[in-house]
Amino acid sequence: MLARTRPSLADLYADVAAGWQAGIERLGYPAAYGALFAAAPPGAPGRVLDLGTGSGAFAEAALRAAGRPAEHLALLDTSREMLVAAEARLAGRAPITLHHAPVGTDALPEAGFDTVLAAHVIEHLGDPAGALRWCRARLAPGGRLYLAVSRPHWCTALLRWKWGHRAYRPQAVLALLKGAGFADARHIAFPAGPPSRTSAGYVAVRG
Ligand SMILES: C[S@@+](CC[C@H](N)C(=O)[O-])C[C@H]1O[C@@H](n2cnc3c(N)ncnc32)[C@H](O)[C@@H]1O
Repeated sequence: MLARTRPSLADLYADVAAGWQAGIERLGYPAAYGALFAAAPPGAPGRVLDLGTGSGAFAEAALRAAGRPAEHLALLDTSREMLVAAEARLAGRAPITLHHAPVGTDALPEAGFDTVLAAHVIEHLGDPAGALRWCRARLAPGGRLYLAVSRPHWCTALLRWKWGHRAYRPQAVLALLKGAGFADARHIAFPAGPPSRTSAGYVAVRG
């Protein structure tokens, strides 16, 4: 009998890429992302890096809320299918480069970005502290990191079974940000619906 191999994370995301945006819209995530950027201090984009971009919803919310235009948008994901979907969604908003690479790649310049975004991707990483130090090094001084991170909840426990997501309490995320050298780290709760129960937003500054 042939042993069944578990599909890779990239294969799992390839399978859902076409319907990802519709799925997160049904659950209210793009609206929650909009609320996070509206509640954060005004300013940001400039040169933007979106990690684990998926269909580009977090970057789209950041661009919509920004007090100044995006000069450049770098989209990074380990799923080619997600990168294609994000590029289609964000085309025309800024010059775009696609990076088919993991968080931690050495293909992106140090201090090259004013804004780094990461929604629901830190949870996939074995070394979140190292990933946040890498994010900090990608930011120019004064640049901002925005995160959305899953919180402990029975829904996120189910997600972990399929997707390998971890979940972090807000105090743990704030401690990770401080440990990675970020200043002014803030937790911004999502206002309503599933995102308010299963996830939370954060903003921090590279001092
Ligand atoms: C839960 S989805 C979130 C997508 C999007 N940010 C959103 O909020 O809708 C996680 C995304 O991260 C990508 N991903 C998973 N592990 C990654 C890694 N190590 N480096 C970069 N991207 C990764 C997946 O392919 C997927 O597109």
